Amino acid sequence: MTALLNIKTRRKKLERDEKKESTLESSRKVVHLRVYRKNPKQDKSSHFDKFEVPVQRWSTVLDALLHAKGYLDKSIAIRYSCRMASCGSCGMKINGIPRLACYTKVSEIDGNIITCEPLPNFPVIRDLVGDFSDFFEHHSAMEPFIHNQNADIVDENRLTEFIQTPEDVENYLQFSYCIKCGLCYSACPSVGSDTRFPGPQALAQAYRYVADNRDDATQSRLNIVDNKHGIWRCHFAGSCSVVCPKGVDPALGIQLLRGHLVNFSKNDKKLAESRTRNLGKT
Ligand code: SF4
Ligand code: FES
Repeated sequence: MTALLNIKTRRKKLERDEKKESTLESSRKVVHLRVYRKNPKQDKSSHFDKFEVPVQRWSTVLDALLHAKGYLDKSIAIRYSCRMASCGSCGMKINGIPRLACYTKVSEIDGNIITCEPLPNFPVIRDLVGDFSDFFEHHSAMEPFIHNQNADIVDENRLTEFIQTPEDVENYLQFSYCIKCGLCYSACPSVGSDTRFPGPQALAQAYRYVADNRDDATQSRLNIVDNKHGIWRCHFAGSCSVVCPKGVDPALGIQLLRGHLVNFSKNDKKLAESRTRNLGKT
């Protein structure tokens, strides 16, 4: 009796496996990749190369590109590393939208033509690889680290600990998830018209430190962004927040940072008025 039950169970498992296998088989298909090609050192104009690539239900656009690079044309230039939406290196325009290639499944894309182009607002080094020099310069200009006079270690036996409540952390947490992929920067129309504008990523990082109660350099950070190519250049298109793959809302960061600037201006004005009044009394 037990032996009969075992046979039935095994047969059911076999049937389940066969069904699964046939579903996977039917999920395999071919996509047509259109890949932007240009080597600015040699080529005056760009063109698209087309590749037919076999994919499966779970394949990402990066998988498809790596198949093309591995088996069809080794010269395709592409930047990637982690393949898990953490390093921020595989950003590109996929069917017109800035996205991470390793985080975009082929099955999410309508139709079977996938067009891959380099991110806008970044000079092309080759094919899908952009030059991030300006982007990182803007980021470093915000001094993306904690400034705190009390953080200096004068005596190794007296290390200072900065205690934060969960609410303190909540103030800046989402902004600390930024992986510097540049998607928001590439989607920003203000960056497209003024390369001296720091862009949504850098401004959101400035806010990340202003909102961190361990940092004591709020005023100097506000001075960095408060100029004619700075924070006021943002026209609040909001496309930065739409394309961010990590749930950061740079547009919100920019608005909150502006709020700090306006309050500071008001406080400065009040201070100036009270000084004038006091001077009048003497
Ligand atoms: S804010 Fe988002 S889109 Fe912009 S660089 Fe950071 S992770 Fe990328
Ligand atoms: S390869 Fe690291 S984010 Fe895509």
